[in-house]
Amino acid sequence: MESGLGGRTALVTGGTRGIGFAIAQGLVGEGARVALLARTRDALDDAVARLGGDEVATGVVADLGDPGSVDAGVAAAAAWRNGLHVVVNCAGPPMQSGAVGDLDDDPWVDTFTTKAAGAVRVSRAAMAHLPDDGTGRVVNISGVTAASMIPNAGVTGMTNSAVQTFTKYLAAELAPRNILVNAVCPGMTLTEGWLQRAEAAAEAQGITRDAFFENMTAKLGIILGRWAQPAEIANVVVFLASDLASFVTGQTFIVDGGQAAKAI
Ligand SMILES: NC(=O)c1ccc[n+]([C@@H]2O[C@H](COP(=O)([O-])OP(=O)(O)OC[C@H]3O[C@@H](n4cnc5c(N)ncnc54)[C@H](OP(=O)(O)O)[C@@H]3O)[C@@H](O)[C@H]2O)c1
Repeated sequence: MESGLGGRTALVTGGTRGIGFAIAQGLVGEGARVALLARTRDALDDAVARLGGDEVATGVVADLGDPGSVDAGVAAAAAWRNGLHVVVNCAGPPMQSGAVGDLDDDPWVDTFTTKAAGAVRVSRAAMAHLPDDGTGRVVNISGVTAASMIPNAGVTGMTNSAVQTFTKYLAAELAPRNILVNAVCPGMTLTEGWLQRAEAAAEAQGITRDAFFENMTAKLGIILGRWAQPAEIANVVVFLASDLASFVTGQTFIVDGGQAAKAI
């Protein structure tokens, strides 16, 4: 089966590491060219090099918290290869921890502004650059906290729910242009960030990092009994970005090893 992604151009926010980098790798693997958007120039340059260099990737500095910077970043990404076919809204802050009744405004505003409002800003700026010929795609990354209760993850969960609702509205708005909009809701994923956090937490608890992940897996009830590799999330994003998903829009795909399947 042909993905049809060869020669198309994608913008991946948060593409310098973790799930976003795996998505960029997956798209490049299908022959797409990828513009990465993040705040840190060195990390962008490093990611571009790891993807294969300037022929296949470029890096754009922008902060999703700043609308002007997003507009300029998306314009630069679209100018790179004279248009965009695919937009992946992946950038987001690490999971916020705290009871919803205890946290003050800052974590709410920061998380929502970066992730949910950021996805809106990027999509809005990119819309004019997407084609009307059936190849245009927006894929938003939400998160399992919107599908399954994780203690003290309310801020992140509500933001991820907003991303999923945004996905439905945007799908309806862009359907007349034959642009498809979907979301992927990843479960717990072994990104560099989580590996570091697990290392620190394991040390504090006097256990190994593997034991930390095993305990979390059991506590969260991930029925496949393990966390995801970033590529396992990216595979679903690549499918949605491809021609193979030509009749799919307005949906959220939960890719969580069955964590949310427990709620019937
Ligand atoms: N990892 C998981 O287990 C998991 C589970 C469910 C959902 N998710 C979701 O998946 C997405 C990726 O998660 P991840 O763990 O792979 O993230 P990550 O490794 O922490 O990477 C985050 C990426 O977003 C960029 N970024 C952060 N804030 C930004 C801002 N204000 N403006 C522009 N870029 C920004 C970062 O680059 P700079 O710092 O250089 O800007 C980086 O490229 C997030 O939306 C997250 O909520 C992750």
